[in-house]
Amino acid sequence: MKFFVDTADVKEIKDLAATGLLDGVTTNPSLVAKSGAPSFLKLIEEICGIVSGPVSAEVAATDYETMIKEGRKLANIAKNVAVKVPLTQDGLRVCKELTDDGIMVNVTLCFSAAQAILAAKAGATFISPFVGRLDDIGQDGLKLIEEIVTIYQNYPDFETEVLVASIRHPIHLTESAKMGAHVATIPPDVIRKLFAHPLTDKGLAAFVDDWKKTGQTIL
Ligand code: G3P
Repeated sequence: MKFFVDTADVKEIKDLAATGLLDGVTTNPSLVAKSGAPSFLKLIEEICGIVSGPVSAEVAATDYETMIKEGRKLANIAKNVAVKVPLTQDGLRVCKELTDDGIMVNVTLCFSAAQAILAAKAGATFISPFVGRLDDIGQDGLKLIEEIVTIYQNYPDFETEVLVASIRHPIHLTESAKMGAHVATIPPDVIRKLFAHPLTDKGLAAFVDDWKKTGQTIL
């Protein structure tokens, strides 16, 4: 399973990239606004230099004519840019055109299996179903992941990878992994939670104490 970090915060991306566990980055307009970066294009260029895997950069327009121009401009920033487009009729038209030209496309704001089928038919590199936002309105976000993974497995000609988005806690990740989702994009605070377990902390403290009793050093 590939791990992307869902943030536009360069400091966080550098810190997590240093672990060697990061396979890519996803950003969206809200995350870019939160980062306070003065130039979106320069921000994406900088992130693409930190991480060699896909870096999702989202178009700002919603109409076909502008989205296709924005998408091509974003794709020109670096080879590892994945252009992010919304799951609309115009968005999928842009997706088809860009992927036909060999550009990676992440189709975002997916909330149904039917939408995911359309994205796969449009040749999307990634489909981003939002689990947390479905949970927020009383629907089962993980159920949608299960449906999409099952449908895609039924059709080997669908090459689209399921990128689980809007992850709020470690269970979203582990359940998605059990279902066979290809990628998870995870906020930095949730990635850090994945490392943690109280028995790890307790066990490590005991080992450190006992090692001191030996009076030895390794280095
Ligand atoms: O990047 C898309 C998605 O991960 C957003 O998550 O927490 O705003 O629903 P959230």
